[in-house]
Amino acid sequence: MKSIDQIKRSFLKLYGSDPTVVSAAPGRVEFIGNHTDYNLGPVIGVAIDRRIFVAIRRIEERVFRFASGESSDFFTLNELSSPVEGENSWVNYPIGVYNCLVRRGMDSEGGFELFVDSNLPTGAGLASSAALELASGKAFCECFGLEVQLEELAVACKEAENEFVGVPCGILDQGVSAFGEEGSLVHIDCRDMLFSVIPLGKNLSIWIFNTHKKHALVESLYSKRHEECLEAVNGLVKAGLEISCLADVSMDTLEDAKGSLDERIAKRAKHIVGEIYRVEEVKRALVEGNVEKAGKLLFQSHASSRDLFENSIPELDFLVDILRSMPGVLGARLTGGGFGGAVMALAKPDFTKIYAESVASAYRGRFGEEPETLECHSADGACILESSN
Ligand code: GLA
Repeated sequence: MKSIDQIKRSFLKLYGSDPTVVSAAPGRVEFIGNHTDYNLGPVIGVAIDRRIFVAIRRIEERVFRFASGESSDFFTLNELSSPVEGENSWVNYPIGVYNCLVRRGMDSEGGFELFVDSNLPTGAGLASSAALELASGKAFCECFGLEVQLEELAVACKEAENEFVGVPCGILDQGVSAFGEEGSLVHIDCRDMLFSVIPLGKNLSIWIFNTHKKHALVESLYSKRHEECLEAVNGLVKAGLEISCLADVSMDTLEDAKGSLDERIAKRAKHIVGEIYRVEEVKRALVEGNVEKAGKLLFQSHASSRDLFENSIPELDFLVDILRSMPGVLGARLTGGGFGGAVMALAKPDFTKIYAESVASAYRGRFGEEPETLECHSADGACILESSN
């Protein structure tokens, strides 16, 4: 685990002075609500105890310096108006956020020196990009003196990802990284941008099994699903429904109108409408303390992704099937965009490390390599760790 002293030491070594602000923001696990966010339905996620740290110092000179834990030196940019390509493209996340905050009135005199470090694995479906956006956003606001509500900061970070990085994601990742609370899940009403917390039963853990598989076309497949959902809305409007998004459609209405849609598009819509229902059912079950029911809904969510939204892969299906037979596992499903990535499992304490290892070795027996296994706990959202501003 990284400590704030380590971050400050690295900053000092790189830039020759202390940072003004150190911030942190957690990764997230998508608990349930697969692709519901950009369809303006609800979604539930959980901020986890792995995070990204950002240390920053404002300087008078109009230059922008960047470094991350992996590199021993920084690199410099003279302006921040266009995205960076190649191995340094991670800087597009902080730069995108900086630009969105300047648009919201942040003072942009001078420049900054920025350092990023992390104990959150990247490429594991844990939304490290959103964590970097939120940690950067918190640090910029504190360092450059901009006051924004947390809702607005999450929206600015999503805007940065949509417009500057070019990924048409919804608010899930940024919302959960912003509003996480230890002991709780974050529920987001994506239509009204309402964030609230649901207590997560005591002693429950969230396990991640990361396959490290990534479909070569993952970004374009994500966009394709986004487009298919819009196509479903357009088709239903043409058929006479007065709706503006899939969150406006009930399962009964969809059943009556689905004949007007192409079969593939009808399947996509059915997944989203069913998933929206399951999110609210999981919320109800957890509020009533019925963790078994919540777990069953997680399994149903996976089946719907696999069969209707077709964003699973055999590796994820295999993990979910094995987890179903394990003691203490309440539910499991693919988490995040899909087409590779990770499975999450909600488990009671009887699901121990030994069982997690047996899942990993069964996977190795089938696919020839082990998935990365992480046990996570819920954690607080983005925060300032230290500031001398
Ligand atoms: C990715 C996106 C999120 C959400 C999920 C799917 O994680 O960043 O906004 O759409 O996929 O639910």
